[in-house]
Amino acid sequence: MINSKFTIKKLLKTKNTIKIQWNDKKISNFDFLWLRDNCPSVEHPHARHRMFNILDVSEKIYPRKYHLNNKGNLEILWSEGQHHSCYSSNWLRKNCYTIKNEKKYVTPYKKWDSKFSDNLKIVTIDYKEIIKNNKGLLKWLEQLNIFGLSIVKNAPTKKNSALKLINKISHIRETFFKTPFEVINIPKPNNTAYTSYGLRNHTDLPYYEYAPGYQFLHCLINNAKGGESSIVDGFAVADYLKKNDPEVFKILLNTHVKFKDNDYTQNTIRVFHSPLITLNKDLDYKDIRFSIATMAALDIEPKKMSKFYRAYRKFASLVHHKKFSVNFKLKPGDIFCFNNRRVLHGRKEYDPNSGHRHLQGYYLDRDELISRINYLKKIEF
Ligand code: OGA
Ligand code: ZN
Repeated sequence: MINSKFTIKKLLKTKNTIKIQWNDKKISNFDFLWLRDNCPSVEHPHARHRMFNILDVSEKIYPRKYHLNNKGNLEILWSEGQHHSCYSSNWLRKNCYTIKNEKKYVTPYKKWDSKFSDNLKIVTIDYKEIIKNNKGLLKWLEQLNIFGLSIVKNAPTKKNSALKLINKISHIRETFFKTPFEVINIPKPNNTAYTSYGLRNHTDLPYYEYAPGYQFLHCLINNAKGGESSIVDGFAVADYLKKNDPEVFKILLNTHVKFKDNDYTQNTIRVFHSPLITLNKDLDYKDIRFSIATMAALDIEPKKMSKFYRAYRKFASLVHHKKFSVNFKLKPGDIFCFNNRRVLHGRKEYDPNSGHRHLQGYYLDRDELISRINYLKKIEF
């Protein structure tokens, strides 16, 4: 049975490839080794891992015979090992690297600036909607993936209760701050978040090689004066620089900045170097790392230092500029969720004598969210 709208019209063997012409006139060119490597029979039926070893055949392997069978699928008898392979046309089309490489991979991210304040309802979702079924869960995850932000409303305000919601995605990411971490004003704080001071917009834990992908701040109490939250889309700021100040953009992409944390309650000294902005292989945005508080004494090449400071100041001023920031005050029962490697967050100072403020924080890796979306949307790879 042909279960794809794409059918193979013509097959041709070239020196190193099988060339396919499709019914929509697209051409695929499959390398012999690639085809042998991806023979469907080589996948373990349960583990779904490749059992075949690429070194078990020579580089000279070629199809001794090949043809389209009566189901429209490609059959090959290989020159080595008497091995026979059958590839469904559907699978070949879906995995065709000729067609895939015609276009760059474009991330699904929609960037936003301060005008997003009027539109926050598209990143707001009721706790019950997520808990109810996978449709609600996927809606929440798409908000997080696309906008890097979601505000969950009407969650219970019982301590530790946000874990149940986050576990709908997957297990949490543990750090030395423990789970949940208590964002509350304490004596002798080991982090400025645990004071009543304002926090400049930042991403959390940039001194980790693998900074947490998502952060969830569950508001339990917030009746002190002040303490309003601020958020900024770091990708939007980066993109603004790319278009308006490409020299600064380039410096931020190419300069390794040193971050550090030597928390007095831990027996660790954490140091990590990274640019403030990083891109993916197709030059779209990947990560933002920014924290004035945990930037170490920089060790950039001397001749690049003053230029870096110019670029850094520009970025720092833009991530606090009213053109980009969205401000709101969290209410008990809100869970403020964001992509910690994209969206910067901060808060205004609050008066601890005027009332109480208590948030509980959780982290999750970005892989967990993306792979859950793939599963819920039945995306096959
Ligand atoms: C944090 C943080 C923000 C807040 O705990 O990482 O930035 O609103 N908290 O207290
Ligand atoms: Zn933070």
